[in-house]
Amino acid sequence: MPIPMLVGNWKMHTTVPEAVALAHAIRSRLDDPDDVLTVLCPPFVALWAVAEALKGSTIALGAQNMHYEEKGAFTGEVSPAMLQGLCQFVILGHSERRHLFGETDDLINRKVKSALRWGLRPILCVGETLAEREAGRAVEVVRQQVERGLEGVGDCHGVVIAYEPVWAIGTGLPATPETAQEMMVEGVLRALMGLYGEHDALEVPLLYGGSVTPENLEGFLHQPAIHGALVGGASLRADAFCQMVRILERVRG
Ligand code: PGA
Repeated sequence: MPIPMLVGNWKMHTTVPEAVALAHAIRSRLDDPDDVLTVLCPPFVALWAVAEALKGSTIALGAQNMHYEEKGAFTGEVSPAMLQGLCQFVILGHSERRHLFGETDDLINRKVKSALRWGLRPILCVGETLAEREAGRAVEVVRQQVERGLEGVGDCHGVVIAYEPVWAIGTGLPATPETAQEMMVEGVLRALMGLYGEHDALEVPLLYGGSVTPENLEGFLHQPAIHGALVGGASLRADAFCQMVRILERVRG
């Protein structure tokens, strides 16, 4: 059974001083959690400062995106070599990257493979749009995103998958826990089992994301295929974020 996990995706929020203050506020309230793998994903420019703020703590750090090349003429991009040693995780294929910045499964697949090569744990995000759900294609879309995102990845050790239906992100309208469980099993797990077999597939941490709050988190955690959450908006409030870590400790720890 994977360790319970809570990931805060700060997106394009917080200046560097604000990010440091938020990291300190979270750290001081949490007292080094060890039953829940807690990951903060600030903007790139704040990674170094937040890493300093978290030194000696069990709270881990993640980036929100990454280029797949080590270095080169890619203006504005950040490479795995730059992230290595600075953070342990990297969110890849977030729906905002897919839909606002045109990232394809092929590009995301290159990033996933590169992250693993560089010792970074990819948090691969998948999820269907409302139109795909209404067309009855939700399971198929998610299964394909997992399969394509992991194509050529021989070993799923280190990989984390976040199921985030696009219609639930930032809308205040989360999926029901039952829908999330069904998508996790029929979409994500089936794809993982096909690729890696049941034993290894069941070791991959599966997170639900999309309008998660301290009020609705527990419902998701009662679903057996959900090991934690990827949280956007509510992760920007230290109180709410720490409350969610405690809920995870209580329900899944
Ligand atoms: P949200 O975002 O919690 O604000 O819906 C989740 C995410 O995009 O990872």
